[in-house]
Amino acid sequence: MSERPSDRVAIFDTTLRDGEQSCGCSMTVAEKLRMARKLVELGVDVMEAGFPMASQGDSDAVDKISREFSGIAVAALARCHAGDIEKAARALEKAKRPRIHTFIATSPIHLKHKLKKTEDEALETAVKAVEQARRYVEDVEFSAEDATRTSVEGLIKFSKAVVAAGARVVNLPDTVGYSIPHEYGALIAKVAAALAGTGAQLSVHCHDDLGLAVANSLAGVMGGARQVECTMNGIGERAGNCSLEEIVMALKVRGDILPYSTGINTPELFPASQLLTEIIGVGPQPNKAVVGRNAFAHEAGIHQDGFLKERTTYEIMDPRSVGVPESRLVLGKHSGRHALADRCRILGYDLSAVQVEFLYTGFIALCDAKKWVGDDEIRALAMAAVKATASA
Ligand code: KIV
Ligand code: ZN
Repeated sequence: MSERPSDRVAIFDTTLRDGEQSCGCSMTVAEKLRMARKLVELGVDVMEAGFPMASQGDSDAVDKISREFSGIAVAALARCHAGDIEKAARALEKAKRPRIHTFIATSPIHLKHKLKKTEDEALETAVKAVEQARRYVEDVEFSAEDATRTSVEGLIKFSKAVVAAGARVVNLPDTVGYSIPHEYGALIAKVAAALAGTGAQLSVHCHDDLGLAVANSLAGVMGGARQVECTMNGIGERAGNCSLEEIVMALKVRGDILPYSTGINTPELFPASQLLTEIIGVGPQPNKAVVGRNAFAHEAGIHQDGFLKERTTYEIMDPRSVGVPESRLVLGKHSGRHALADRCRILGYDLSAVQVEFLYTGFIALCDAKKWVGDDEIRALAMAAVKATASA
């Protein structure tokens, strides 16, 4: 492994594991396989297919995904328990590039109340788990659960010990979405400095409890992490995980100040989001960045006018670059004459300025009674404008 972190950021997709932990988002084995095919088309580097100890379904999903996809690393989650690791290893038996992802909590609050272990006991358990996992596979990832509520010294101790035991990737999750970007970036940078020369890769895994999962993940990348754990549509435990489409597009759109690349085929983002919505029956909110229904919709007259003159006045991404077929101009009470006349032209009515004025008056009156106005109503208003101005 190279000494200097390269600028390539690996995308570790956990839609099928952490994403599935969202309330009401569980998937059958067949559904996971369908989604896995799309994630491969999308170009994720690692796919976390499940937590085999959690259920037979998860174990079967990891097994089936391992058999079907040879070009991608398939990960299975396991607590630092011998039984979990053995189960994960079995489920991954047919994988060409298996990864065992083992985790234990490291924060005082989790150690005291959940695990009832001292830090030294947890450290010994983590090292044993990594050693056991290495007897099955070469690629082992260790996660220090609740890392952001663990001391930096504690994290450095765990990280060095698990890397010495054979872990290739050390993940420092913001399990409870507690961190703030500059703080998380500094934490990652300190652990990265402590691991310099070991060849281990640092990974970020952020939850969105304060709406900062993407910002924190970006800060982590700037601090030296070269793997981002994320999910399509940002689904995941509680408020969700770092959204794959958002972090990937932030890295791409702001390449001018973020000199990193991913292997994601971005025109597959919207189709992947749509497929996930179809499978779990829960879609992103309309104003969700990148893949929401309104992400490329403009309603305000000033925006519509600017957009019609030059798309980039109000769009920082071409919708086609993320697989959205086209931008939409929504006609509502904030819309202006320019967008209205443009829609009429699309509908076959090339109106004069006087006709547009007539139409606009009727349109605004209708908008006061409705949230938005559809094409049939625009057509009727355009016909009325043509008729009224012809007889004038
Ligand atoms: O949020 C978390 O800490 C996790 C770990 C199991 C990686 O999902
Ligand atoms: Zn998580």
